[in-house]
Amino acid sequence: MQRIGVLGSGNVGTVLANGFLSHGYAVVRGSREPAKLGDWLEQAGPNARTGTFADAARAAEIVVLAVKGEAAEAVLDLAGADALAGKVVIDTTNPIAASPPVNGVLRYFTTLEDSLMERLQRRVPAARFVKAFSIVGNALMVDPKLPGGPPTMFICGNDAAAKRDVTAILDRFGWLTEDMGAAEAARAIEPLCILWCIPGFQGRGWAHALKMLR
Ligand SMILES: NC(=O)c1ccc[n+]([C@@H]2O[C@H](COP(=O)([O-])OP(=O)(O)OC[C@H]3O[C@@H](n4cnc5c(N)ncnc54)[C@H](OP(=O)(O)O)[C@@H]3O)[C@@H](O)[C@H]2O)c1
Repeated sequence: MQRIGVLGSGNVGTVLANGFLSHGYAVVRGSREPAKLGDWLEQAGPNARTGTFADAARAAEIVVLAVKGEAAEAVLDLAGADALAGKVVIDTTNPIAASPPVNGVLRYFTTLEDSLMERLQRRVPAARFVKAFSIVGNALMVDPKLPGGPPTMFICGNDAAAKRDVTAILDRFGWLTEDMGAAEAARAIEPLCILWCIPGFQGRGWAHALKMLR
């Protein structure tokens, strides 16, 4: 059984941790305060554990980074570069700034010349980052059921084998995967979250996803 380290006590951490458990993986979930995951652990079943960010990173074969964008680099430091070295790190984060959206358009603290995932990859060069799950709300991340059929997950990263591993997970989780290339493509993928959120902020609901058609 493959063990996934989910760094994050928020909604994305919960949904993906539960998704991995339901698809037959073991999960170690990390937080600065593991005690806050007690309620989750009680209902999560025998293949779930909790610990610090470092505990989850060390125990994992594949790591999921599901923390606030502004804290993502600090969380990598807490997890430990040694614990992350050589591992696939699925980066779900978006660089959402603290200031409020303008007419439903989120503000980012990054630029179009340097994405958050590129910063993370520079922070831990030996980890194999793959951007994924960042372009859709957590309610649709696992087994999305939409009238238009399976939606598209755009991924990117510098390591081809890591992207194959993440594509296999996305296949199981009900997604079509489009590999957009190396880490620089995160400059284009991360802003898709801004686009995805606009209908929601405009009162048109959040139950949508993107699809690549040819
Ligand atoms: N919510 C969605 O539907 C959605 C969809 C796509 C992508 N995303 C992205 O996914 C990521 C997770 O989102 P989320 O909504 O689940 O939760 P979130 O509230 O953005 O993040 C919660 C996590 O961030 C950590 N954190 C916050 N401030 C920190 C700090 N100063 N130092 C260290 N860790 C800190 C928390 O650590 P502790 O556990 O220690 O408190 C917690 O694990 C975000 O980057 C978000 O943009 C979210």
